[in-house]
Amino acid sequence: MKILLVNIDQLLQVREKPPSKLKGSEMKELPTLSNAWLLVEDDRIAHFGAMDTPFEGAVDSTIDCTGRLVLPSWCDSHTHLVFAGNREQEFVDRINGMTYQEIAARGGGILNSANKLQNTSEDELFLQAVIRLREVMLSGTGAIEIKSGYGLTTEAELKMLRVAKRLAKEFPIEIKTTFLGAHAVPQEFKGNKDAYIELICKEMLPKVASEKLADYVDVFCEEGYFSVADTEKILSEAKKYNLIPKIHVNQFNAIGGVATGVKYEALSVDHLEVLSDEDIKALQGSDTMPVALPACSYFLSIPYTPGRAIIDAGLPLALATDFNPGSSPTGNMNFVVSAACIKMRLTPEEAINAATLNGAYAMGLSDSHGSITRGKKANLIITSPVPSYGFLPYSFGSNHIETVICNGKIL
Ligand code: NIG
Ligand code: FE
Repeated sequence: MKILLVNIDQLLQVREKPPSKLKGSEMKELPTLSNAWLLVEDDRIAHFGAMDTPFEGAVDSTIDCTGRLVLPSWCDSHTHLVFAGNREQEFVDRINGMTYQEIAARGGGILNSANKLQNTSEDELFLQAVIRLREVMLSGTGAIEIKSGYGLTTEAELKMLRVAKRLAKEFPIEIKTTFLGAHAVPQEFKGNKDAYIELICKEMLPKVASEKLADYVDVFCEEGYFSVADTEKILSEAKKYNLIPKIHVNQFNAIGGVATGVKYEALSVDHLEVLSDEDIKALQGSDTMPVALPACSYFLSIPYTPGRAIIDAGLPLALATDFNPGSSPTGNMNFVVSAACIKMRLTPEEAINAATLNGAYAMGLSDSHGSITRGKKANLIITSPVPSYGFLPYSFGSNHIETVICNGKIL
């Protein structure tokens, strides 16, 4: 199957030999090709070039992209897309003055979602997730990470991961899965956190590994959740099963989790709304990707990750949605890219790099995703007619996506 895109006003993120990630000032560059064509062959980007040397050969269909931009699909490296129901009531409670932490302390928050999920069948959970995944794909996401962490029992954690694996089987989008048993201490283990950690290490991790349900392991390293010592315990146990860490750190407090992530060779450290100079130093020279989640800051009215300072310190940065029912009920990467420009002072080039190539890195997918490169997956966004790529984050809230191609399939 060959699809030819012609008269592309600008082809964005064109890289012959893409690096695995972009850091510091490299993020300012967004290589583009004007008046271009691109050939999709089966699930791959086969070829591209300028219209003055057009592609000549038989194709199955042609898409005229006059006035339009084409870019690689978004790579959303941090989501909790599999969850049951919603937390709309807590949203209203926060409007009426309660804080996110107060809601969690009364047994709401993650425990509320866990209760809902434990009482939802695997098939029903799958159907709810399908609706979200379809919406996310149509909004231009071509690769996504999905975490467990709303199960908090062995059975329910496995159920979440099986649902994520079934999504991966039934949809063309690339899905990576992460085991986040250490998302909160369940009610039954209140005052006995060590016993829950023991359950994670001795029962959940072996089962997740033997059923091959996860690529990564995550811990919510935060005051009131899991300490640095707890995190180390879980990460070192997970290492025995070759589960690479991608961890929640520094959302509300900087307690040293960033350095721990680096020590355990985490692929990414995510959130970072509260970031110290020591944390930045810990990241320098490491292979760990800092990931910002501005939709969470927006929704909870908490500080934004200092993305400008992170990039100015020579570090890379990725952007993700954190799609979940409690702190970021959106899976829309277009909004995230806008918010990063508006609230974190990233330039459009930096934000697009953070949401494509660096997002791919944070899922171990930079060899196959995140740039317009021959041989990479044909995961493409075709915009509606827009004046420039800066217009995408600038005109936040508008939908400028006309067509999405995922693994070579037009959605
Ligand atoms: O990434 N911070 C921890 N976990 C999720 C939110 C959990 C929830 O409120 O359901 C997050 O923000
Ligand atoms: Fe999260």
